[in-house]
This record gives sequence, structure tokens and C-alpha cells, in this order.
Amino acid sequence: MKIVVLAGGLSTERQVSLTSGTGVCRALRERGHQAILVDMFLGLEDYNGSLADIFDAPDGLCGDNRVHSTEPDLEAVRRSRRDQGPSMLGKDVLTVCAMADLVFLALHGACGEDGRIQATLDLLGVPYTGSGYLGSGMAMDKSVTKRIMDAAGVPTAPWHDVRYTREDIPRLARELPVPCAVKIINGGSSIGVELPDTREELAQTLERMLAYGNHVIVEKKIKGREIQVAVLGDTYLPAVEIIPRGAYFDYFCKYQKDGAQEICPAPITQEQWRTVGELALRLHRALDLGVYSRADFILDEEGNFWCLEINTLPGMTPTSLVPQEAAQVGLSYGDLCQRIVDESLA
Ligand code: DAL
Ligand code: MG
Repeated sequence: MKIVVLAGGLSTERQVSLTSGTGVCRALRERGHQAILVDMFLGLEDYNGSLADIFDAPDGLCGDNRVHSTEPDLEAVRRSRRDQGPSMLGKDVLTVCAMADLVFLALHGACGEDGRIQATLDLLGVPYTGSGYLGSGMAMDKSVTKRIMDAAGVPTAPWHDVRYTREDIPRLARELPVPCAVKIINGGSSIGVELPDTREELAQTLERMLAYGNHVIVEKKIKGREIQVAVLGDTYLPAVEIIPRGAYFDYFCKYQKDGAQEICPAPITQEQWRTVGELALRLHRALDLGVYSRADFILDEEGNFWCLEINTLPGMTPTSLVPQEAAQVGLSYGDLCQRIVDESLA
């Protein structure tokens, strides 16, 4: 099958996505697919061959030499493209997607996980992996997701939806509850998440968050164990417990070797696993998600689960959490990638 693995893009999770994409592309090639890795933002700038032959390209388009080990100068690429307008799509990206039997989305974060590329591929008439544009868009917005959680009966911490400017910060720092979690509305991988304990820290956090935009949620901080569980097809997988080395599971803990201990299956009771799995499945369905997702929860000291969010394109590096959970039910990384392909085309 001709498969474009779309990764990279311009979100804050660009690097994570390139790592997911490299793993997926290798695994699909090992399964005999004509898979190519395409960076959504850089496109085929480095490709000198004919587009007609692109799916026959040897490893050149797939693997470490394609994933820039040092970040390319994205600003320079943006400047050189000025004549084309502020496009997020690199050279020939839609052309090669239209030539594929399937686009495997290994994108994470805004402009990739948020429904816009899904809607574009719908208009092109090209099938793609994972959820459709509407569910993706809703799940990317932390405030919309929490409204759906409330409606679906999935417990989530009380929150405030806050749009603000710098002038509002002193008032907000007086009025909002502390300690709390402040999260940019559409972030991922804990970029744009801070946990201020005092009013002074909250003011500083709100100031820093303006670098990402002017819309955040401010959530009551719930103490407990972090438990994550994936949905695959119409069922849920074994859960995983995360024990971060730092104060919480931040970007460093997520992606540095030994940044966190990941215990899979999570040491929780069968009953707790069923409870958290059914909550994940309920939210997955309420948002009309498809094929797979991973929901993140806190298990508090009284044994209650609180949902933090659901990820529609969760990390897919060979050691990511969803592949670890799949391994517990006998699915290797390659099996999981193939299963996602099969279910997305079903
Ligand atoms: N946002 C990252 C990739 C995850 O959820 O795994
Ligand atoms: Mg996330």
C-alpha cells in the first residue's frame, strides 16, 4: 500500500512528531508498504527525483537522514515562502497525499492533531488514520473537551475558561483559585502547562502564557497518581502508571531517558482498570473519535479518577505509552501500526 506518513509540521510538538513518524514509517516499510515520511511543513524541498517515483524511493526519504537532527531554520523557510502566503503546508505535500492510498497521521499538536489537516484530506478524498476533523478539533480544545466530559459524565476537575490580556492579570491573580493548573487551550506534551501554588506565581504564569496566546484553562489541582489508558478499536488497553522524576509529568520527564518511570500494566486493581477504561471509552465515543486515542487521568487518594484530557494522535514512538499498552495484549509496534491502518480503512 502507498502510505504517506505525515509528521513534523510547525506545532510545539514538532520534534516528538518527527520521532513518531520515523518509527511508524520504518514499521510500515518492514510490513512491505511503500511508506514515505513527509514533513508537513518542509514538504519535499530536499527531494530531487520525480514525484511519479516517490513511493519507490529507497530509504532516502525514510529514516534519520530525513529527520533533521538539528532543527532546520524554520524562520528562513517561512521567509523564503513569503510569496505563497502563510501556508502551513510544504512543497508538494497535498500532491503526494493525493497520490497515496492512505495518509498515516504522525502529527501532534496544533495544526495536525486539531482537525484541520483531517478536514483538508477529507476534501481531497484521501483516507487517513485516526479520528475525523470534528472530534479532533473538539479534543484539541481543553475547554470544549471538559464541557463534553461534563455532559458525558466523565469526572474532571472544576475549571475556568479564561481569555485575557496583560491588563487583566492582577485581577485574575486575585480572583482565580490557587493552587491550580494553568494550561494553554490547545497545547500538548505539557508545553504551556504550569502549576502555580501562590497568587504571585499565578500572576507570573499568566504573564508567561501570553507567549502562546491569550486563552487558557485554569483547573483545580488534583493530587494523585497519573494513570493513562488507550482506546483501540472498540475496546480499551491495559493502563499505564506514570511516576515522573520531577514534580509532574512535564516535557522533560516525557522525553528524557529515565525522566519518568512508566509501569505497564499499571499496579491498580482489575476493578479500577475497568473503571478507568470505561471512562476513556465513554469520552472517546462522546467526542466521536475513531480508531485510537489515549486518555490521561489522575487517581486521587479516595480512589476517584479525574480525567485530564484525551489525545487523538498520541505519541507513537516505539517506546511511547500506547505501543507499551498494546504490547501487553500481544501487539508488537509493527502490529499496532498495521492495526491502525486496517481500522482506519475499515
Ligand atoms: N501529545 C503527546 C504526543 C501525547 O499525547 O503522547
Ligand atoms: Mg496531550
